Amino acid sequence: MKQKLAFSLFVLLFSLSFSLMIYYGERTFFVNKAAKSESKKHAYHFVLIPEETDNEYWRIIEKGAREAAEKYDVYLEYLGPKRANMSEHVRILDKEIAGKVDGIMTQGISEDHFTPLINKAMDRGISVVTVDADAPYSRRKVYVGTDNYAAGFLAGQALLEDTEGKQVVGIVTGRFDASHQRLRVQGFRDAVEKEKRIEIAGIKESGISKTGAVQATYDLLKEHPDITAFYGTSALDGLGIARVISTMRPNSDPYIITFDTLPENMDLLRDGKIDAIVVQHPYEMGYRAVEMLVELKKGNHPERLQYTESHILRQKDLDQFLKENKGLFGDEDDPD
Ligand code: BGC
Repeated sequence: MKQKLAFSLFVLLFSLSFSLMIYYGERTFFVNKAAKSESKKHAYHFVLIPEETDNEYWRIIEKGAREAAEKYDVYLEYLGPKRANMSEHVRILDKEIAGKVDGIMTQGISEDHFTPLINKAMDRGISVVTVDADAPYSRRKVYVGTDNYAAGFLAGQALLEDTEGKQVVGIVTGRFDASHQRLRVQGFRDAVEKEKRIEIAGIKESGISKTGAVQATYDLLKEHPDITAFYGTSALDGLGIARVISTMRPNSDPYIITFDTLPENMDLLRDGKIDAIVVQHPYEMGYRAVEMLVELKKGNHPERLQYTESHILRQKDLDQFLKENKGLFGDEDDPD
């Protein structure tokens, strides 16, 4: 009796997993087929692989890429992990290489994981442009994005310019395993290194999420209650830092500098809850990355290192900045 029951259970589970396999297998196949036939109507088929699809910063890169794609008759796919995740990211990159698209735009988050795959794509005749984070030892043709070390250095200089007296700094960084995040930290450290009044008390990882940044800030403050300044190295870190300060320490006023002019960060800057922002140009990154892939497909040899501009934005310059960059930072639907 027991044996019969176990057997029926086994048959049931087997049939269930088999049907699921067929269903999802077919769906993937169908989507790929649909993408393939759609791509045939265009001059090129490129894919942009973000660190996470629903991240506001990546949506701005996507917007730039889509507008360039329209201009250059490119069929553009935007595919990536829902939440930042190295193995999922690498899996998607590998799958796109196997799918033989004409060009790929991806980050070079870590040399170990990305360089071999980028080289594999190049070996198969797929052009690769790194965006946002470079893989300088790979055979990628072009990098379009911030000079991450220099941007971190700028953040350190801003802290020196904007503060007086002893500062105890807590750093919230996106990911310890991401090369560009490490460069942003290194640049910052080098800028403040010789100043005796600056002490870097600790560094925690946010996993590039707002809740992760809240947790990281909370942990930093618990371990170092004397922190007087915070540095956030990815787009959502400043939001987490500011949230913890306004709930846990509403009467304190630490210096806060963070990356990226997302609308929420700019609101906090306007309200004086964040003191400075390191500006990157994600719209331009997406736009130019598509342009560079088109150039490569035409057999041209564009400049390898294409740094987009970065600078420090403070409250007093916010209105002017918004006027000059209307629509380019997720603040409006259409750029001028
Ligand atoms: C970084 C991106 C990252 C994003 C996360 C930005 O500052 O340049 O690499 O994905 O923050 O929110």
